Amino acid sequence: MRIAVVHGPNLNLLGVREPEVYGTATLDDVNRALSGLGDELGAVVEPFQSNSQGAILDFLAEARGRIDGVVVNPAGLGHTSVALLDGLLAAGKPFVEVHLSNPASREGFRRHSHLTPAAVGVVAGFGMDSYLAGFRCLVGHLIRQHNQDPGGSPPGNG
Ligand code: DQA
Repeated sequence: MRIAVVHGPNLNLLGVREPEVYGTATLDDVNRALSGLGDELGAVVEPFQSNSQGAILDFLAEARGRIDGVVVNPAGLGHTSVALLDGLLAAGKPFVEVHLSNPASREGFRRHSHLTPAAVGVVAGFGMDSYLAGFRCLVGHLIRQHNQDPGGSPPGNG
């Protein structure tokens, strides 16, 4: 099973960017923790970060044939981008939306996400643990999906 983990704009600055909101863990810390959890759960993690929406869309289009699902922290793009929603739908794989902070408890413009209606689920407000919980839940979802449709392509061979 292979899971893409997409980090949106400004998440390259994790650890130094508003640590009181986003915590002190760096992006490398997050990716390392995910990769450790992936080893435990038997899933390969493929992390990708960009500050450019186009690069994220190109990555999703290019990776769609080899991945089984996506954990995505869309960052600001979640609030603004129909194109990112379309890119995820075009990739055609289940995705879980994650946020370090709890956007629903912040400014009004953060309360809406274009991605949420199409996500399998959303985990927000737990810092790095949002990613880990979202990843674990997505792996469980993919396994259940496969067990319900054993004739479909097994996770990892899609
Ligand atoms: C964020 C929340 C968004 O509102 C914000 O634009 C981000 C990070 C989070 O992880 O809490 O960049 O997605």
